[in-house]
Amino acid sequence: MNAFRRIVLYSKPYWKRMAIAAVVSTGVGAMDGAFAYLVEPLLKKIFAEKDLLIFSLLPVGIIVLFIIRGVCRFTNDYLMRTAGQMAVQGVRNEIYQRNMRLSLGFFQRQTTGGLMSRVLNDVNMMQEGVGTVITGLFRDGLSAISLLGVIFYRNWELALISFIVIPVTVYPAQKIGKRIKHLAKEGQGKMGDIAGILQETFSGIKVIKAFGLEEREVDKFRNHNRDFYYYQRKAIKYEALSTPVIEFITSFGVAAVIWVGGANVMSGRMTAAEFFSFVTAMVLMYSPIKKLTNAYNVMQRSIGASERVFEIIDAEPDIVDAPDAEPVSRVRGEVEFRNVSFSYDDEEVLKGISLSARKGEVVALVGPSGGGKTTLVSLIPRFYDVKSGEVLVDGRDIRNLVLADLLKQISLVDQETILFNDTIANNIRYGRPDAIDADVEAAARAAFAHDFILEMPEGYQTNIGDRGVRLSGGQRQRLCIARAILKDAPILILDEATSALDTESEQMVQKALENLMANRTTFVIAHRLSTIFRADRIVAIENGEIKESGTHAELLEKGGLYKRLYDMQFQG
Ligand SMILES: Nc1ncnc2c1ncn2[C@@H]1O[C@H](COP(=O)(O)OP(=O)(O)O)[C@@H](O)[C@H]1O
Ligand SMILES: [Mg+2]
Repeated sequence: MNAFRRIVLYSKPYWKRMAIAAVVSTGVGAMDGAFAYLVEPLLKKIFAEKDLLIFSLLPVGIIVLFIIRGVCRFTNDYLMRTAGQMAVQGVRNEIYQRNMRLSLGFFQRQTTGGLMSRVLNDVNMMQEGVGTVITGLFRDGLSAISLLGVIFYRNWELALISFIVIPVTVYPAQKIGKRIKHLAKEGQGKMGDIAGILQETFSGIKVIKAFGLEEREVDKFRNHNRDFYYYQRKAIKYEALSTPVIEFITSFGVAAVIWVGGANVMSGRMTAAEFFSFVTAMVLMYSPIKKLTNAYNVMQRSIGASERVFEIIDAEPDIVDAPDAEPVSRVRGEVEFRNVSFSYDDEEVLKGISLSARKGEVVALVGPSGGGKTTLVSLIPRFYDVKSGEVLVDGRDIRNLVLADLLKQISLVDQETILFNDTIANNIRYGRPDAIDADVEAAARAAFAHDFILEMPEGYQTNIGDRGVRLSGGQRQRLCIARAILKDAPILILDEATSALDTESEQMVQKALENLMANRTTFVIAHRLSTIFRADRIVAIENGEIKESGTHAELLEKGGLYKRLYDMQFQG
């Protein structure tokens, strides 16, 4: 019920629209009641008394009645459903916004497709519930109530008899609803898995093709799709079951009404016309009552989905500003790791690392892969927080700084050259949205990107996502470097920025990187040692520990880990 209350709270801003809708829906209910009520005069005046005036007025009356009902119904439908859509739009914005706030660690525990599925599929299912429930509850509820009025007005004893069975329907309806909610939640989880596979295979299509594994992927997809069907099938079973079960129980009520009502008519305590008006109201009531029980099931499904939505909305980012976080303007760029240890789960990945970089210094990190280099540098922008020890920038523990301010001090370039579906200029501008065109161009020149940009169909205004725009790895990397140059942060992290490139583009990118590194405190990770000979200091890391550090010449002399790595790369 908690989830349902929250769904309803999202509709609160639209209460005026919904109030008008509720008012007009009384028109629909009133017309339903009126119609059932009119059955009695119809039968009595026309068939028994042969009243000509009523005979000529009644058909017109019925048409008018249905016109009023139609207008009310349209207005009600339109207003209620748009209110539902707006509420869901709010939910979708909120889930996305909350998602974006969560820390990197959260995203590494989820599949991209699964997250997408929550924003798209789960919110949709939630919306179905909101729509059905708020339209249904008001309109069908009111119709049922007005028809109820007619039933009681015609014969209250008979009405009571017909309702004796209602309490009996509550138990199975609730049981079924609960199952449906549970199945919906599981099913939506499966839908998330399917979305995960789609995301993975569409973005990894090249590998799949290269290995000729299309068939295997199709099989995998089939299996997950079948699992999804398994939950759907069960949910369908329960949903389809709910109507017959309830109808079966109510048939006892109908039988009792016919039995007792028939006896009343035969003994003259009730006219046939009254009896038929009663029965008409009862028959008309069937549809809104059925819709109400359906709405209950849809609502359960919607609650199941909304629980998945609220899991994200309620998730707290692991890394947040300290209550007394200090704002920072521009730092000098001194970075120090002081006895830092870190682990993702149980196993310690960094063990008591102490390392400092002066302003403008270039520190190269080398060592076998899996040694902890990437982990070490991801502590600087607080992608993760240390388990023990401290990371200091300009002598201040970064956990005491405003996170947004800290991030402005750092540029990161790695081998994942992420560009967005936007113009080249806007991609470069990503780190500084207010930069003027001249600055964008200057950054592109410094990144050796200006020339190839001018050769594109629309220069800086070319959209990267457009068909026909094909950028090489080196070109993409240079755009990322231009982006970092424009951001102009005092601290720079280069994590294997050139490792995905061929030698020729590597040389271009290398020159671009040198421009980027000028006057910045830089941590550079490179498996090609040729790119780091000129670093001020080289630090060799293995198994989360610093093995040795010094200049290129010093470390070669020492004959340790760095010498081994060097010999492996430059044998002969
Ligand atoms: N997101 C993560 N979750 C759990 N373990 C991780 C994660 N990223 C890296 N690791 C582990 O941490 C260790 C160090 O990895 P990493 O810092 O990437 O090394 P390097 O960059 O030196 O190759 C490895 O054992 C790796 O398996
Ligand atoms: Mg790495």
